[in-house]
Amino acid sequence: MIFGRVKPLDAILATAEKKGLHRSLGAFQLTMLGVGAVIGTGIFVLTAEAAQKAGPGMMISFVIAGFVCAVAALCYSELASMVPVAGSAYTYTYAVMGELLAWMVGWALILEYAVGASAVAVGWSGYFVGFMEHTFGIVIPNWIAVGPSQGGFINLPAVVISGLVTWLLIIGTTESARVNAILVSIKVAALTLFIVLTVPVLKSEQFTPFLPNGWGTIGVIGAASSIFFAYVGFDAVSTAAEETKNPQRNVPIGLIGSLLICTVFYLLVSAGAIGTIGAEPVRGLAGEILAPGSPQLADRCAQIVASGATEPLACSHEALAHVLRYVGWTKIGNLMGLAAFIALPSVVLMMMFGQTRVFFVMARDGLLPASLASVHPKWHTPHVVTAFTGIVVTLAAAFLPVGQLADYSNSGTLFAFAMVGVAVLVLRRTDPGRHRPFRTPLVWIVAPLAIAGCVALYLFLPLLAQMVLFVWGGIGLLVYFGYSRSRSHVGRGIIEIDGDPNLQPELAEPIDR
Ligand code: ALA
Repeated sequence: MIFGRVKPLDAILATAEKKGLHRSLGAFQLTMLGVGAVIGTGIFVLTAEAAQKAGPGMMISFVIAGFVCAVAALCYSELASMVPVAGSAYTYTYAVMGELLAWMVGWALILEYAVGASAVAVGWSGYFVGFMEHTFGIVIPNWIAVGPSQGGFINLPAVVISGLVTWLLIIGTTESARVNAILVSIKVAALTLFIVLTVPVLKSEQFTPFLPNGWGTIGVIGAASSIFFAYVGFDAVSTAAEETKNPQRNVPIGLIGSLLICTVFYLLVSAGAIGTIGAEPVRGLAGEILAPGSPQLADRCAQIVASGATEPLACSHEALAHVLRYVGWTKIGNLMGLAAFIALPSVVLMMMFGQTRVFFVMARDGLLPASLASVHPKWHTPHVVTAFTGIVVTLAAAFLPVGQLADYSNSGTLFAFAMVGVAVLVLRRTDPGRHRPFRTPLVWIVAPLAIAGCVALYLFLPLLAQMVLFVWGGIGLLVYFGYSRSRSHVGRGIIEIDGDPNLQPELAEPIDR
């Protein structure tokens, strides 16, 4: 039966008890944590992709994606405050809807985190290549700067940064609170500067036509499905619920606050970009819309640049730096490149860390080989799982374009978020009396909205990204029935409570907030 093998909530909570984390975070820190986790490749790079799909209408796309994230965030918070342990949506689902669905969610989270990390690595690469060229005059040849679909062979900078982050995670480097605060400030300062330099000089005529491609898959909602990536990462706030003072008040403030701040930044940044350089989608010679990330778009962009015309926003691999150079702030454009160069790797790190944590918890539950969960004797990190994750992330980053990776990541994330919405409702019915440090307000409206929003955004992803979830899910089912089901600890009646901190990487090597 589909809802069989539920992991008892009390056993999960007993594990959490052992962690005994100190409640120290307030609303402000939580908000900063959220902003730090969220701002990344989405705004720095995917703005170009959104322009290609929606033109100036991408401003509406940002609002739609932000709204879906906000309602999903409210559902996340209820479960995060009740089940404050590692594993995020996977653990919640295990406790509420059983092992099979939990497995599928954990499997989908691999798309969110691992493929998402690849997307950010490729986004970083675009800024790195531009920065080297514009600051030092070093031109990195195309064949080692982008993947095959964009006329190259391998994205070497993305390979290097993914490899470096993997190595840092293996030797146990974690982001300290101070480093995180500095990186958040750099990102916020860079975006603020962008807004200050572009918004005052924007031209209203650049906003017409506002919806050049309408509302469809290549249009405003399609752009919202892609730009959704720009908001991913806010779950970092939910997972910090157990370390939060007065979570009932502070978690929603942190979540909604960080999403609001990011939405305002995203709207102003996109307005600045649209109003200066323009966001007209690039068309083929016959006037047809070219798909983002496609070889046709890459060819057309190369032709436009070769003709001496300004590179359109939709063509740029370093959208924000490009806009600043266009409006005459060349040096500050290069500084923008530097800011992305410094700050984006921390987003790769956070996503890969999240991935290893989910893998680790699944292995600890017996659903993946125990060897994956082994902890390095010296570094106290789950080195096997980290190396494995690193190889997957690096391979994907080497060959695929950023927009495609972000879309694949989104398909997994949207599935996981929708399941969280379902889990909140199921648990309200099955266990209404349980203590909920945070309760989703208007849950019978908010959770269905979150589920419907996630499904709608999923349906507007490109077909290939939709298929990825199915194919990936199919492989997941084969692994589950071929391997995991018979080895599951819950299935075998072993409900252990881990007391050994080395068996919990989140304890052995916490991200120091
Ligand atoms: N939201 C994160 C980014 O845009 C994942 O890079």
